[in-house]
Amino acid sequence: MLNITDHNPLISERLIHWYQINRRILPWRETTDPYIIWISEIILQQTRVAQGLDYFNRFITRFPDVQALAEASEDEVLKYWQGLGYYSRARNLHTAAKTIMQQFGGKFPTDYSEVKSLKGIGDYTAAAIVSFAWNQPYAVVDGNVYRVLSRLFAIETPIDSTQGKKEFAELASALLSLKEAGLHNQAIMELGALQCVPQNPDCSACPLSDMCMAYLQQNVSSFPKKQGKTKTRNRYFHYLYIIYKGTTWIQKRQEEDIWKGLYQFPLIETEQPCGWEELSQQEEWKKLFHRCGNITVQAISPVRKHVLSHQTLYATFYQIEVEHTGDLSSNYQQITREELDSYAVPILIHKYLISFDL
Ligand code: ADE
Repeated sequence: MLNITDHNPLISERLIHWYQINRRILPWRETTDPYIIWISEIILQQTRVAQGLDYFNRFITRFPDVQALAEASEDEVLKYWQGLGYYSRARNLHTAAKTIMQQFGGKFPTDYSEVKSLKGIGDYTAAAIVSFAWNQPYAVVDGNVYRVLSRLFAIETPIDSTQGKKEFAELASALLSLKEAGLHNQAIMELGALQCVPQNPDCSACPLSDMCMAYLQQNVSSFPKKQGKTKTRNRYFHYLYIIYKGTTWIQKRQEEDIWKGLYQFPLIETEQPCGWEELSQQEEWKKLFHRCGNITVQAISPVRKHVLSHQTLYATFYQIEVEHTGDLSSNYQQITREELDSYAVPILIHKYLISFDL
């Protein structure tokens, strides 16, 4: 086994040297503004750099600083997040911005534990912010770092185990350059993103190949180890796109569930797959269309599968015309089709509207 303390400065030096030649020029790397770094890191937890750049530029143009974000409405923040998924991240950004205004006088805190106390900021994001902005010696551990370190030291401990999290965090800290923590952190993540990639890495071009245990053992592709898959559950969503004289109805998701704060059509969820005949016999359906007169199902979409990290959704959209508005407006918000575009909706609904040109 490689002795970490022997190699510590060498690894960091090689990483930083490699980074300075190979790094991508990205807007959040050209600044030490903690706000910009924070926003970029949260976006990059959701998506790859190529797609993240567009979201980042739009977000920063509209919310250039903490104050602008804090003063915006949650609906608007969610609209700018639409399509990125994991909407609690956007709600947490908004909450944290308000906390910075109220509790830190509008100035981004510089103390690691204060940064970590903000909603939605965990070990990784706090380390990224304080090291990139002020070079503070906190090591980042993200998916890229897990991959690099597990290969470099041929670590068998699963990265998704409690023990693994502890071991990798300690190792990352031991390797960190204390003088150039920010550069070192960027460098190890960039190496994971560009060189030590998940599939078929070109190890002959890697600056650490001569000390990489997995490479020397010729089993790079077996790292990192994982404990096992988390269980996923299936859910069956039936969205009702109800039409009455150019208007439709939506509601805001309020529950502690996926997509909290986003808007949707009236929804009936079932435990099992269910066709429209069965659906229309359900109490929920009858209650929804109470006093709506004749209801005409104009179209039923194919079932769309939507895979999330812990659940798989099977969604069907029903386009339904009603004769009267019944009780719909007491339970849902009535809007025109044009107004719908200004509401943040799950990407599943957005795609439905686009693909059927609705
Ligand atoms: N992924 C996570 N953080 C990143 C960063 N700062 N630059 C590029 N990719 C990243």
